[in-house]
Amino acid sequence: MARKMVISVSGKGGTGKTTLAALLLKWLMENTDEVALVVDADPATNLPDVLGVKLEKTVGQVSKEMKDQIERGSLPATTPKQELLEAWVFQTLVEEDRFDLLAMGRSEGEGCYCYVNNVLTKILDTLTKNYSITILDMEAGLEHLSRRTDRDVDVMLVVTDPSKMGFETAKRVKELIKEVHIGVERVYLVGNRFDDGLKDVLEKAADEVGMELAGNIPDDQNVMAHNMAGKPLLELPDDSPAYRAVVEIAKKVGLDTLR
Ligand SMILES: Nc1ncnc2c1ncn2[C@@H]1O[C@H](COP(=O)(O)OP(=O)(O)OP(=O)(O)O)[C@@H](O)[C@H]1O
Ligand SMILES: [Mg+2]
Repeated sequence: MARKMVISVSGKGGTGKTTLAALLLKWLMENTDEVALVVDADPATNLPDVLGVKLEKTVGQVSKEMKDQIERGSLPATTPKQELLEAWVFQTLVEEDRFDLLAMGRSEGEGCYCYVNNVLTKILDTLTKNYSITILDMEAGLEHLSRRTDRDVDVMLVVTDPSKMGFETAKRVKELIKEVHIGVERVYLVGNRFDDGLKDVLEKAADEVGMELAGNIPDDQNVMAHNMAGKPLLELPDDSPAYRAVVEIAKKVGLDTLR
C-alpha cells in the first residue's frame, strides 16, 4: 500500500467543497489502483448523491440508536458497547468497487454524548489506517476545527469562491489551525469559479491568508448539467474544464505520489 494520506476539504458554505472532493476521487479512480475512503463529514450528507451512491444509514443514526438503547437499559450490562457500536458503524460503510464511503450524518439528540463521540473518533482513526488515501468532505464553516475532526489531516484544502466571506472563512481556518493546535502539514487555498479576470485577486488572497494556492476550478456548464440531472460527478467528461483543473490540483498537492 502506498503512503497513507488524509485530505480534508473545507471552506464557507456552497463554495464547492463537495464538488472538489468528488472530482479528486474521480482523479484517484482514473490514475491510481488505490481504494479510497471517502468520508462525508457534513451533516447535510450531500456527497453520496453527488457520487451516485445509495446510503442506508449514517453514523449519526446508529450512534443515536446506541444512545437510546443504553438510556432505555435495553442492552444487557455485559454487552461490550464499544465493540457493538464499532460493528454498527462498520455496517454503515458503503463499499463500492473503487472506494468506500462513510457518512457521519447528524449527531442527533442534544448535548455532547461523550462516550459515543470518543468511540467514533477512535473508529475513524482506526478506519483511515486501512486506506492509503482518505478524503474528508467537511461541514461548511469552522466548527470542525474546534471539534478537532481535522486533527490527523495531512493536506487541508480550503475552498473559496469570489466572495469576501469565502476569504474571511479561509483566513479563520488558517488562524484556528494554530489556535486549536492541529498539526496539519500542508494547507492550500483552492479557488472555485474565479474567471480569468480575477486570477490576480485569488493569488493576492492566497498570499494574504498565508496559504499556497493549489489552483482554481473554473465555472463549468457540465458540472451544472450533471447536478441538475442528478448524474454522479464521477461521470463528468475528462475534458470538462472543472475536472481538468482538478487534475492540476491533484498533482500540485502530491496525489500523484500515490500512483
Ligand atoms: N466550478 C463549478 N462550476 C459549476 N457549478 C459548480 C462549480 N462548483 C460548484 N458548483 C455547483 O454549486 C453548488 C454548490 O457546490 P458544492 O455542493 O460543491 O458546494 P459545497 O461547498 O460542498 O456546499 P455545502 O457547504 O452546502 O456543502 C452545486 O450545485 C454545484 O454543482
Ligand atoms: Mg458540500
